[in-house]
Amino acid sequence: MISIGIVDDNPTVLVQMRLLLGRAGFDDIQAFTDPRQALVAFRAKPPGVLLLDYLMPELDGVQLLGLLQQSGAVLHTPVAMVSGCADLESMRMPAYRAGAHEVIAKPVNPQEFALKVRNLTRLAAMAPALAQGFQPLDVHCTGGTRSARWDAGPQDAVLQRLLEKVAGFRDERTGKHTTRMAQYAATIAHHHGLSLNQQDLLLGAAPLHDIGKIGLPDSVLVKPSGLTEIDRARMESHTTIGYELLRDEASPLLQLGAEIALSHHERWDGTGYPLGLAGQNIPLSGRIVALADFLDALTTVRPFRPAWLIDKAAAAIESDQGRRFDPALVRAFLAGLGSLRRIKRHFDGDESFVPRAATPF
Ligand SMILES: [Fe+2]
Repeated sequence: MISIGIVDDNPTVLVQMRLLLGRAGFDDIQAFTDPRQALVAFRAKPPGVLLLDYLMPELDGVQLLGLLQQSGAVLHTPVAMVSGCADLESMRMPAYRAGAHEVIAKPVNPQEFALKVRNLTRLAAMAPALAQGFQPLDVHCTGGTRSARWDAGPQDAVLQRLLEKVAGFRDERTGKHTTRMAQYAATIAHHHGLSLNQQDLLLGAAPLHDIGKIGLPDSVLVKPSGLTEIDRARMESHTTIGYELLRDEASPLLQLGAEIALSHHERWDGTGYPLGLAGQNIPLSGRIVALADFLDALTTVRPFRPAWLIDKAAAAIESDQGRRFDPALVRAFLAGLGSLRRIKRHFDGDESFVPRAATPF
């Protein structure tokens, strides 16, 4: 069970949060009204998840978080900043800048509160992997040594086909989307200098990026418009659900699929989700799939807009480099634009181009 640390100078709020967390099944809770006492206690025994009041006397939530981060106690700990500010918007950006993953308004909505804390505990369960660091594709990009994680086993091909079909049942787009997007991803990887072996594994793992959507209710997945804050939090949880589904020490394909599921909505400037990772802290596989997925979304017809031409999509992607996308990958994408056009034409029905198949496992 993940432990939860709460700091709020209002004892009534602490009692209410303890009650709500207890009802949601969380019973390992450290709660403090004094942020200085919390600082000492959390340095000695860091909680798995932190819920910090934003406005407190002497030491506010941002200052307390900064001191805990400086001490190394909460480097990978999911944090929610809780605030009763009349102007919640004014504290949102300082909270995110300080490293908070969530902002929760007081008085809390019990259902939303429990959901957000549950999502944070999921992230907390991944903290050991984050502390060790991902093994991104680029670790193996230039060296001659091929990691064992790139040697997919024969069972992987079967698992891949099964999981792709499962994912297809819950995706609003057709199965073509995942196959085409994987081709885009492998092409970008090729122009970024990744080995054929790495491109092949990406071709197999990229279609699993949205598999976490099988854990979402229809009410969220097929909602015609206007997601509420709770719906949005649920939708974003497809990343962590996918990670939990695919995490498997024994299978390189599933390991890469898990990495992609978790990281394909992160953005280069740190404004993505679920972890708010920035720059090269985002696994390379997730950065590539984010770009390929965006290209496919723009160039595919949607109920609310026609499909964009690939050149218009390329201009939008180029203008978003350094914000949404890794600039180095945008260069690789532009270098591979000819191949990407041919892949698109193939999936649109032009049989003159045959996309590559992954090397059989
Ligand atoms: Fe997604």
